[in-house]
Amino acid sequence: MQINRRKFIKAAGVATVSAMLPAKGLSGGMPAENQPSGKSLKKIYREAYKKHPQKFNMCGYAAPKLETVRVGFVGVGNRGSAAVERISRIEGVQIVAICDELTGHAEKAKARIQTPGHPALVYSGKEDSWMEMCRREDIDLVYVATPWEWHAPVGIYSMRQGKHVALEIPAATTVEDCWRLVETSEETKKHCVILENCCYDFFELLTLNLARHGFFGEIVHAEGGYIHEIGESLFFRGKPGRSWRLNENMRRNGNLYPTHGLGPVAQIMNINRGNRMEYMVSMSSDDFLMNQYAKELSRKEDYFRQFEGASFRGNMNSSIIKTIQGQTILIQHDITTPRPYSRLHAISGTKATAQKYPLPPRLSVAEDHKEWLSEEKFREIEQQYNPPIIRKMQAIAQEIGGHGGMDFLMDWRLMDCLRNGLPVDMDVYDAASWSVIGPLSEWSVANRSAPIDIPDFTNGAWKENQPLDISLKDGGTTGVVTL
Ligand SMILES: NC(=O)c1ccc[n+]([C@@H]2O[C@H](COP(=O)([O-])OP(=O)(O)OC[C@H]3O[C@@H](n4cnc5c(N)ncnc54)[C@H](O)[C@@H]3O)[C@@H](O)[C@H]2O)c1
Repeated sequence: MQINRRKFIKAAGVATVSAMLPAKGLSGGMPAENQPSGKSLKKIYREAYKKHPQKFNMCGYAAPKLETVRVGFVGVGNRGSAAVERISRIEGVQIVAICDELTGHAEKAKARIQTPGHPALVYSGKEDSWMEMCRREDIDLVYVATPWEWHAPVGIYSMRQGKHVALEIPAATTVEDCWRLVETSEETKKHCVILENCCYDFFELLTLNLARHGFFGEIVHAEGGYIHEIGESLFFRGKPGRSWRLNENMRRNGNLYPTHGLGPVAQIMNINRGNRMEYMVSMSSDDFLMNQYAKELSRKEDYFRQFEGASFRGNMNSSIIKTIQGQTILIQHDITTPRPYSRLHAISGTKATAQKYPLPPRLSVAEDHKEWLSEEKFREIEQQYNPPIIRKMQAIAQEIGGHGGMDFLMDWRLMDCLRNGLPVDMDVYDAASWSVIGPLSEWSVANRSAPIDIPDFTNGAWKENQPLDISLKDGGTTGVVTL
């Protein structure tokens, strides 16, 4: 049976079909049915204010220990196949299934397994091959790296089949799907982890530990972003399955990729654990670049003519969030302006400041705040405050790699939590509240930057939930397979 995302939601009976669902494939320009319509924007607004009583609190929840974590992958293109390779290096993990709509991608990913003992069965050929895989009883974790529109459907179905899920970013693209992930995780008591690798970058973890030790005093403001010029490659059609990203940039206008910047600062500000994001405003520039690329490309190749005159997302989006504790968070998103890469990662407190970009990262303290601390002083602080996970894993994470090591650190920590029966670092409330900034920014941009409330996915439990513990207490026991 072939089933697309639209049919899946109907079949699963979870809700009415969202007007925000992406159309399959690309047509010339921004198709009328995909333009943010009054109807879809009303829906974002309505969903943002809907109440959903909590069924069970997944924050701090420790699922039963798994001596071996049996993993099935869904979506093994660029990102998923690299995850297969990294995860095959973690002890106590077995890759039992690999699914991709494209058989070639699934087979290539299987070939990237580095170590023996992984009976990876390939599921492929159909858009819904993943359903068959998820019904297997010998899978503990489904690891999803498909295009965005599939993250929530695969995640929901997998949890209903008794599996933990790890979803690439963003975990969902609609407010409804964010709620569905929360409700399903609470009902099934299965973890729904967002794979926000930037939370495991070394400076981000250092600043998290500094915040835990009161280094910043009271945090007043933080900044995060995804500013990464990918330019013409957005139009690249040579690689099957890649054009989904262009489609997202043609039908939605807002911050489509908020979690790289938001995840690390949300952890530092204890969002969903003693603090919460209350409301936000969002503003997008016009498009100065994507239409221009389309024009230039169409001069070289007829195929690109269809994009001439199309509507594209405004190039730079800036969203500002107010927390219930009175702090502000700036989150930016820009993949087209020609400028150096930046995730901002700035923390501004009453006693100290941190700023990662432009590299190298810097710290300043209130007593001497006109200058950044010297490199020597920075290294001293780093020595003193690097958290246990960095002390233990930095060298091997850098060797195995993935964005300088943070990808491997994230995978290793997830497996270590599952194997030791520990709560996960990034639970379903983080997945939902970090991802929901996407659709809410679309609503605000379409409404002249009007404010919109951010749903409390914890239903008030944020007041009691404990801050994230990165001390590796009871954990850090999982080994790495040397080659
Ligand atoms: N965290 C990061 O640093 C990071 C970096 C890159 C990408 N990503 C995320 O990873 C995900 C994948 O991105 P990518 O660059 O690898 O894209 P990609 O297009 O290279 O890979 C997506 C894969 O999913 C497959 N697929 C599509 N629909 C499917 C279905 N219904 N069932 C099974 N397989 C299906 C495609 O065939 C393709 O192989 C995205 O969510 C993206 O945001 C995260």
